[in-house]
Amino acid sequence: MRREKDAHGHDLWLFGRPLTSLPSQPADSIKPDWQQARIRHIEQTLKRVRKLPSGGWHVVTATKTLSEHPRFFYIDGHEVCVWKSEDKILAVINRCPHMGAPLSEGTVRDGVLTCPWHGMQIGEGKQGRFLEIHDDGVLTWVRFRPDKNIDRPVLPIRPQHFIDGVIQFAARCDPEDIIANRLDPWHGVHLHPHSFARLKVIDNADHVLTVRVVFRAVGSIGVEVDCTFHCPEPNTIVMTIIRGEGSGSVVETHATPMCPGWTTVTEATLAASARPVFRRALKRPARVRSQIEQRARGLWAEDRAYAERRYYLRHPELLPEMAAQSSGEPVGKPRPI
Ligand code: FES
Ligand SMILES: [Fe+2]
Repeated sequence: MRREKDAHGHDLWLFGRPLTSLPSQPADSIKPDWQQARIRHIEQTLKRVRKLPSGGWHVVTATKTLSEHPRFFYIDGHEVCVWKSEDKILAVINRCPHMGAPLSEGTVRDGVLTCPWHGMQIGEGKQGRFLEIHDDGVLTWVRFRPDKNIDRPVLPIRPQHFIDGVIQFAARCDPEDIIANRLDPWHGVHLHPHSFARLKVIDNADHVLTVRVVFRAVGSIGVEVDCTFHCPEPNTIVMTIIRGEGSGSVVETHATPMCPGWTTVTEATLAASARPVFRRALKRPARVRSQIEQRARGLWAEDRAYAERRYYLRHPELLPEMAAQSSGEPVGKPRPI
């Protein structure tokens, strides 16, 4: 292990093989993070990625969470009901064609969904207009309109063997606020000091942001890796570890629009490693999966607040809503007379 300093000048112990050293900079040219943060670049990138082709696909959820129990999702202004029949995933608009009952409150038997109001049967060869679905092996996607040019969701390169952990939550913001959060690595050591000990942007070319970061394993013990961030489609941003421990692992953050001002975030971490202990864990992934998901939830507690704050700043009329959520007692908070 090597002893170094973290971003706040505290001792840091690094394990794993050291990465190739970066060209050194004179000490006085290293600006504080708030001065390095490239706000204009974030805005320009958001504008650019909005125009990327997506084929109209939206992430629904982690495929492994789907079952014969029908579930309701709100996606891009549509109510969607999704269930699994044997190996097949079926999705329909969550509105019975008879009188509009919520189909997700019906029951499924032998793959056929029975409407809770008057018993209409929705299934293959029966009633119902089925939506186009794609299972990429980790996540299930849906689309509402066909697109001849793109028949599959645009996915990043994934590791061949991995343990996946998926978390999902709703946020009071637009998809661009979620993507913007991930396009700002400069907040890492300040907003998440428990997870990131050091972070430096080392390249920002060809629409790919590269950072050298020390993830804290436990306390002052960490591991240093190089990773990239890029957007393969408008509502997805991907972090890929390109050098160091866990090389090839990816974290896909998908921001699915629900309706203006509301977004479902689905984050899939596909962890890979060449270590023998990881190869053994692949056979029994439950423990690693729960650690991955716990860590992701911890980071998003802060990042969700960041993304929602960004949304509120564009919508000052909603500031009372934000004030009501604040743990403090904001001056001017409306009170009952
Ligand atoms: S509303 Fe579904 S059968 Fe009547
Ligand atoms: Fe963050």
